[in-house]
Amino acid sequence: MRSWPTKTLALGGDYNPEQWPRPVWDEDIELMQRANISFVSLGIFSWSWLEPAKGEYEFEWLDTILDKLHAGGIAVDLATATATPPPWLSAAHPEILPVDVDGHTLWPGSRQTWCPTSPVFREYAVALTRQLATRYHEHPALAMWHVSNEYACHNLPCYCDECARHFRTWLQRRYEGLDVLNDAWGTAFWSQRYTDWEQILPPRRSTTFNNPTHVLDYKRFSSDALLEHLRAERAVLDELSPGVPVTTNFMTLDHFRHLDYTQWTPLVDVVSTDHYIVDALPHPRAELAYSGDLTRGLAGGAPWMLMEHSTSAVNWQPTNHAKDFGQTIRDALAHVARGADTIGWFQWRQSRAGSEKFHSAVVPHAGADSARFREVEELGRIAGRLGELVGSRVESRVAILHDYQAIWAAEGPCMPSSELDALTAAQAIHRALHDRGVTADVVHPSADLTAYAVVVVPQLYLVTDEHAAAVAAAAAAGAQVVVTYFSGISDENDHVRLGGYPGAFRDLLGVRVEEFFPLGPDGTVALADGTGTWWSEDVTALPGTDVLTTYAAGPLVGRPAVTRRAGEGDAGSAWYLSTLPDDATLGALLDDILAAGGVEPAVADLPRGVETTRRSDGPRSWLFLLNHTDAEQVVAANGYDLVADAPVDGPVRLAPGGVAVLRED
Ligand code: GAL
Repeated sequence: MRSWPTKTLALGGDYNPEQWPRPVWDEDIELMQRANISFVSLGIFSWSWLEPAKGEYEFEWLDTILDKLHAGGIAVDLATATATPPPWLSAAHPEILPVDVDGHTLWPGSRQTWCPTSPVFREYAVALTRQLATRYHEHPALAMWHVSNEYACHNLPCYCDECARHFRTWLQRRYEGLDVLNDAWGTAFWSQRYTDWEQILPPRRSTTFNNPTHVLDYKRFSSDALLEHLRAERAVLDELSPGVPVTTNFMTLDHFRHLDYTQWTPLVDVVSTDHYIVDALPHPRAELAYSGDLTRGLAGGAPWMLMEHSTSAVNWQPTNHAKDFGQTIRDALAHVARGADTIGWFQWRQSRAGSEKFHSAVVPHAGADSARFREVEELGRIAGRLGELVGSRVESRVAILHDYQAIWAAEGPCMPSSELDALTAAQAIHRALHDRGVTADVVHPSADLTAYAVVVVPQLYLVTDEHAAAVAAAAAAGAQVVVTYFSGISDENDHVRLGGYPGAFRDLLGVRVEEFFPLGPDGTVALADGTGTWWSEDVTALPGTDVLTTYAAGPLVGRPAVTRRAGEGDAGSAWYLSTLPDDATLGALLDDILAAGGVEPAVADLPRGVETTRRSDGPRSWLFLLNHTDAEQVVAANGYDLVADAPVDGPVRLAPGGVAVLRED
């Protein structure tokens, strides 16, 4: 087995040689060497080429390309090839096809056309994994196993009868009897009481709103169902290919929320993720940074792997914008700045046919004689120099809590505002910190919070008693705790905590809220020192709680909008934002909170549009500076710039769109 490339910052990507005649394979390897590509992910969508008929395998092509890659010095992240079943399998077993909320079958013809709980699909997928592990576990090119691909990208939730059966079993494990389930789901409402497990169905489309706890449990179940699939393939790899690391590529991007990755990380040896910039987002770059910080949080702060991103345009947005020249390098390094030690692209060579023929690649249709390929070659040279920081960690003293289950509950039916996205507060605060040069770890509430100087609890709508206690313990240990509107509202069954909102955090914050006044996407409310957006609440500050700003208009005029309860002794203060202040007001408030927590930015006087983080390893540290503007920017920092391969004495002059990575003295 080949070890993962560690001496350089590894570059690579999805490689689909089955789409090309063999002479192209030799050119591929030569070009990979030119661009300092040190790994490829191979075979992700190759099932129908590896097993063209049931139990008949064609491995010759994979043997050949693995040998060639090994000879060329390229490590392989070898797929189990089970991401998409071959046509013969779905023709023989149409019961493996997923079913949508209306009961319509999702037919073959695209990809990931399999039901998460199908025992038939599982059997065939495990059999193929067994064949591959048996044949290749000692192949010298093999460096890692890549199970399936982007679980749940297209096939979740599935509402078929098989899933209904598995859901009932899952519920029987979760609840000790139907009475407990009826209580948890609040079935006293709308005559929903179940008297037999067989009466329970997936939350298929109904006449009107489905029961929210039923919907929430179905999301939990669906995430667990796919996790079982990973576990099944992994068991085969552990048995037949022990010692070879196993990963599956997560999707820690804003628009993907189907899986509770917190539960998934124990099943992977390397946390890997895919990231694509969505142009329609209001702050695409900030979303990239949030995704990186979330991935690092899932990895427990350790370096992680960017399995896929794009060199330029994708193929699935309404208009697929090409990246700026230079952005291929800048985007890749933006992930490294957030802790990635491995950078992959989808895909190595741009396809000639199929749905992704207009998706960019390392080798575009124009061939290697192209600006994009030259940019990757340039990045390859930079990656060689960045090898010295591989293994270092991103410095952060701020935590932002992120809990997929709380997000699912907040996205449930019939909330006070269906227009308020569950991540609005988290991303606004993350962006404001990032604009100030302050890096945050995006972590689950079960992470160790006590080492952070500031802990942000952004719209943590559903919270368990245990997680609420962890937040209070962080404040007691000295952290400044910042809670935003619509947090701590419900328990793990999504039952509202009574006695005044925000139930789970009322004592910590010293506030009591009687009613929500959501504002919607276009509504605003004047504050004594700015403007509130999205949300407002009727807040009473309890004795001992300071009112920092009030509502200045509307039904809540004169009522507290932002409060602080000072901690006793060494405890930190607990800050409450009952609305989302405009950027300037939020920024000024965060300055006060950071000052109270003693948190400094990575560099002082960061120009607007420049992103910064610091990675360190013992006494050594590296400062990342990324200029996202189209003007030169000057930053007071010095060291040896590994991008320019030159010392910097005095301020760093960042070219428009330029990046510096300074080895600090
Ligand atoms: C990912 C997927 C890749 C490719 C890419 C295109 O979701 O894993 O196979 O389709 O998107 O952006």
